[in-house]
Amino acid sequence: MSPGEIAPGIFILQGRDAVRLATRSPDAVPVYGERIQNGYRLWDPYRSKLAALILKGKGQAISLRVDSKILYLGAATGTTVSHLADIVSEGLVYAVEFSARSMRDLIGLCERRTNIIPILADAAKPEDYAPLLEPVDLIYQDVAQRNQAQIASLNCARYLRPGGGLCLLLKSRSVDTRASPRAVLQLELKKLIGLELMGINDLEPYHLDHWAVLGRWNPGSGEETS
Ligand SMILES: C[S@@+](CC[C@H](N)C(=O)[O-])C[C@H]1O[C@@H](n2cnc3c(N)ncnc32)[C@H](O)[C@@H]1O
Repeated sequence: MSPGEIAPGIFILQGRDAVRLATRSPDAVPVYGERIQNGYRLWDPYRSKLAALILKGKGQAISLRVDSKILYLGAATGTTVSHLADIVSEGLVYAVEFSARSMRDLIGLCERRTNIIPILADAAKPEDYAPLLEPVDLIYQDVAQRNQAQIASLNCARYLRPGGGLCLLLKSRSVDTRASPRAVLQLELKKLIGLELMGINDLEPYHLDHWAVLGRWNPGSGEETS
């Protein structure tokens, strides 16, 4: 496979019969069972919604630099966090997770990576981690909670630098199992205060009933997105 860099730190490996996404890491230990080839870690779109978004060609709005700072809400055991840490190799990923069980695995990952800061906290209470944080370039949120949009708004208002980006993974079934996913999406978008909407993308066929909502922090642009 010959790697091509499609964005800083993000690679496409072109095989004989398949195209695969990858990031590059000096750490040769797999994080979630992914294959590692010559320093490239294959990035599985079925395991990571961000990989799905990028493979669908919709990841440009995230525009990360090698020194970007990211606040990641809903880090779990670090599947997607680990790839973001590869990409922002001279930056930082603040990884918030409220499950102590997941945090144990995440801390194991942090022992091998110096640019991930694990934070055991509830993302719905952003004031709790204020002493650990600085303004960030991107907030990435994947918490699958009923109040997802409200959590995103609270964190953006507190930690996103002006012009910074939001990538909100919205799981419609976590909000309402009976309403149609599109109806849920429309209602949730109205709760994203201070964000200029840059794109809304489904993640099919990799993840069903999920949307990646991309926004830019611009509190002067109006009261609400529509
Ligand atoms: C769908 S999983 C995230 C998967 C992860 N983003 C990845 O791609 O590797 C959702 C995670 O969010 C965490 N979570 C849910 N609500 C949270 C909250 N209010 N604060 C912090 N973490 C939360 C859950 O414990 C779970 O680990």
